Amino acid sequence: MKKNKTIASIYPFPFFIGEGHDVNFSLVNGNKIFSNEEGKINQIVHNNLDKFPQKSMLSGLKENKIQPKDITDWVFGGKGTVQEKQALKYFFNKFKAKDYKVLKRNKKIHYVNHHLAHASLGVWGCGLKEGTFISLDDGGDESYPYDTVWGKFKGNNIKTFQKANKFGWGITRFHNLICESVGYLGNVDNGKVMGLAAYGKVNDELYNKLKKYLVLSNDGFSAKCLFRRNKTQSNYNYAKLKIDSFQQYKIIHQPNPPEELKRITKFFSNLDVAATGQKLVEDITVQTIKNILNKTKSKNLVCSGGFFQNVSLNKRLLDLNLKKVYVPSAPNDAGLSLGAAMYVHMKKFKTKRPSKEMSPFLGLSYNNHEIEELLKEYKLKYRKTKKPWLTCAKLLTKGKIIGWFQGKSELGPRSLGARSVLADPRKKINKAKVNQLLKKRDWFMPYAPSVLEEKLNFFVKEKISCPYMSFAIKVSKNAKLIPAAIHVDNSCRPQSVNKNTNFKFYNLIKEFYKITGVPAVLNTSFNRHGIATIATPRQAIDHLFNGCIDILIIEDFIVFPRKNKVTNSKNLLSEKYYIFIEKFLHILLAAREKDKDIKKILHKSKFFLKSKNVKFNKNFSYFKIGNKSFKIDFKNRTDLYKKIMPKYNYIVNE
Ligand SMILES: [Fe+2]
Repeated sequence: MKKNKTIASIYPFPFFIGEGHDVNFSLVNGNKIFSNEEGKINQIVHNNLDKFPQKSMLSGLKENKIQPKDITDWVFGGKGTVQEKQALKYFFNKFKAKDYKVLKRNKKIHYVNHHLAHASLGVWGCGLKEGTFISLDDGGDESYPYDTVWGKFKGNNIKTFQKANKFGWGITRFHNLICESVGYLGNVDNGKVMGLAAYGKVNDELYNKLKKYLVLSNDGFSAKCLFRRNKTQSNYNYAKLKIDSFQQYKIIHQPNPPEELKRITKFFSNLDVAATGQKLVEDITVQTIKNILNKTKSKNLVCSGGFFQNVSLNKRLLDLNLKKVYVPSAPNDAGLSLGAAMYVHMKKFKTKRPSKEMSPFLGLSYNNHEIEELLKEYKLKYRKTKKPWLTCAKLLTKGKIIGWFQGKSELGPRSLGARSVLADPRKKINKAKVNQLLKKRDWFMPYAPSVLEEKLNFFVKEKISCPYMSFAIKVSKNAKLIPAAIHVDNSCRPQSVNKNTNFKFYNLIKEFYKITGVPAVLNTSFNRHGIATIATPRQAIDHLFNGCIDILIIEDFIVFPRKNKVTNSKNLLSEKYYIFIEKFLHILLAAREKDKDIKKILHKSKFFLKSKNVKFNKNFSYFKIGNKSFKIDFKNRTDLYKKIMPKYNYIVNE
């Protein structure tokens, strides 16, 4: 990279008017790259009211020993309707950068639109000489509001062939609405609904009905969603308002699917709606991408944009038998500041792209000295070791859940062995343990196995590298060895771990392999429910205090919990219990709403209801499971869980 260039890149533009979630900052200083999401520091998930990533910016500058006045070039996402002069004058002045007029006169302020930034992160990071790129998300942002942009790249040349679906309303929006129809939030819970889909069955009748609302464009390169937003505003969800685990989006929004969609899905279980919606979204996307590849005649595919967090869909792209399918570690908006910076490098500064894939470890880091100071301040019991992976592997085999905090944090939504919670994948109980006692996340969400790169074929037949957990792949071998890291449909979302990019994590898995004969550990993100993946040592210690992990291994320190550690001794629930409720929920909702089609809905599910011995009273105010009676007065899914749980005999101790 150009030695005399120090590029600071911010997404979105400061004081941007419009959606700008996952606010992030990148600094490219000669060969050094720093990139961080502000949400990981502030611990607020999907906050679209953050306007600029000041903590990330100051941290990046500190790490590189750079003053803002040393920054040669500033890169931003589109500014939309904001008055540039006013905004940047204030911003540069506030942060003591060079004067706005000087930077402007010397052409040192650059703008890169949303999708070019998505695409550039993929193109820069993929290590491929040429290929096709596609960027697909919910509709860019207000300054560049398209949902699909695609084209070709060769060397430093990125050529856009088409931008489609102005203001969104394409495939991503369709999946968002499917999420809402099963009681989850579009835009934030799509990964969950993809996970839920594995529990359902694709229903042909439903598929054909939904298909009428997701149609290919005339040229076949994109798709349109024909549903329209429900005009009735949802209420705030005050039950979600917890200041210490602030989920802004989930407080302001509640699932609010279009009436037209509700009329179609109400006859089917949530599980089947999720499965059918997923299948349709996959089929249509694969069709558009095949058409695009036919046009570009390229065998390499680089996919970015939030939509490509859908790892089941990504696997369908692998099945196209291309030379390479690459999805960056941050396909979502978290990667936009870095993507934009790299676009400027490629286009304006003609910097040659690396021939290797980019490392995702680009964020905050802490040295042993800083960490030890903190451990002393908290009067924690700890031990120092030069090889923390040896202790970690042993502790994992003893059933401990470990908080693993090493080196620079990862860029993007997946924890890749820098800020991870780890467990032994050989025991199925560990999935439930991490799910319910530590993370308290949804029962159906799978955990990923992190596997030694050269041992990936110990579990799967595909010969690929997947360092960012981008693909859901069927486990074809040795599935019985890692039951905690395998989803109900026998798939997993593996991370292939490379010795050079993360040697401590690699060493840890290797040591675990030596002891157990299994070259994988269970890896999930380091965060309790409701907050973003953690960034700092203090946050890691907080998790130890909260009982979210058994032991913390942070840089060279093995940190033990205090004696009065919080423990959660609740019974673990079997998946059977949750599956039952998910199959039942749409019927209960129809009963509660006194839906005019309730009899039809009951008829469609008659075999399920009979098999579970469920009966309703005449006016649908009660139902019985066997001889136990339940009032239909639940507020939402969680409330229903709580009301049925104490009476229903699905509570088990595994
Ligand atoms: Fe995006």
